[in-house]
Amino acid sequence: MTETETTLQNDIFLRVAKGESTDRPPIWLMRQAGRVLPQYRALRAQFAGFREFLFHPAAAAEATIQPIDELGVDAAIIFSDILVVPEAMGLPYDMVEKRGPLFPKTIQTAQDIADLISGEAAADNMEYVYEALRITKRELNGRVPLIGFAGAPWTIFAYMVEGQGSKTFAKAKQFLYREPVLSHLLLERITDTTIAYLKRKIANGADLIQLFDSWAGILSPAQYREFATRYISKICDALTEVPVTVFSKGAWFALEDIAALNCQVIGLDWNITPQEARARVGERPVLQGNLDPCFLYADHDTIRAGALQMVQDFGPKHIVNLGHGLYPDLDLESVRVFVDTIKTYRY
Ligand code: CP3
Repeated sequence: MTETETTLQNDIFLRVAKGESTDRPPIWLMRQAGRVLPQYRALRAQFAGFREFLFHPAAAAEATIQPIDELGVDAAIIFSDILVVPEAMGLPYDMVEKRGPLFPKTIQTAQDIADLISGEAAADNMEYVYEALRITKRELNGRVPLIGFAGAPWTIFAYMVEGQGSKTFAKAKQFLYREPVLSHLLLERITDTTIAYLKRKIANGADLIQLFDSWAGILSPAQYREFATRYISKICDALTEVPVTVFSKGAWFALEDIAALNCQVIGLDWNITPQEARARVGERPVLQGNLDPCFLYADHDTIRAGALQMVQDFGPKHIVNLGHGLYPDLDLESVRVFVDTIKTYRY
């Protein structure tokens, strides 16, 4: 046991991530720190924009802890965004209200890639994130473990080339087909930066790292192997200090490849059943997920029944979560019903 573990009051999340058995599954929720909480909306209103909020480590720490106080989930996830990495590499972005991220400058040429900052130098530009981790760790005072995260290289690449959110990411995919050599060069630089960044997150208190590959599902299996899994694999191999969760949204087709990585936990969305996922990954990996966030729009009895069905379908070696982030307009009481159902469940 490491020092952080011995001082944790509730370490059920970390114990399950490491493959130990417990009497109930742990639970946390992607986007648990966010607009579903009234106290988040109040804090957010004090800042001109989302980025200003992120650049304020004490506020980020407060947002991180709000869902622990309000919902009693078993892990905190540092309040930040995956897009701080492209920004630290030299591509600033705006978060446009109701539209999402927008990058005024994007990657199109070899020169654009050469101009990027990467590795330790890029990691140096995210001191405000490490400061947020240190404050959070201090203020959490061992109540629950702290999750650090980053976007997986393909998802970061998609934003850097496309410049904004998109249903198809056709510009980013076009770049893969037309410029495979440059694509690998860019993915390499993102990967080096991500490793340096995550190692510092760990050094500043992250107890587990989750990689979000939000746009995994738009690649073909062959492209996913060539342009995504290869780089995720490098990150998993580099992060030997803490457990790693790989959440590749929509990548059910790549599940066997993901199970072969040096990661302890595999995140799942709702497009696969727990039984099929377990059959395909084998005994070893812990599975995390996978209720459709829209399930929480149902009435409370339906939510309770769905939560119980899910934990029974997964069995042990399972961390309860949704299949993607909480939607901001979900009713907080419905979220609470879901969490409480899991916390009172026993195997
Ligand atoms: O609670 C947590 O999960 C921690 C915080 C967190 C945020 N973003 C805060 C956030 C995490 C882990 C992320 C990851 C993230 N960011 C992903 C990967 C997960 C996923 O959703 O697939 C992606 C793709 C992003 C990029 C991003 N950030 C987009 C596309 C948007 C705009 C859309 C939206 O939901 O508003 C964001 C903004 C964002 N990131 C918000 C929050 C709370 C909302 C902004 C606000 O409150 O003003």
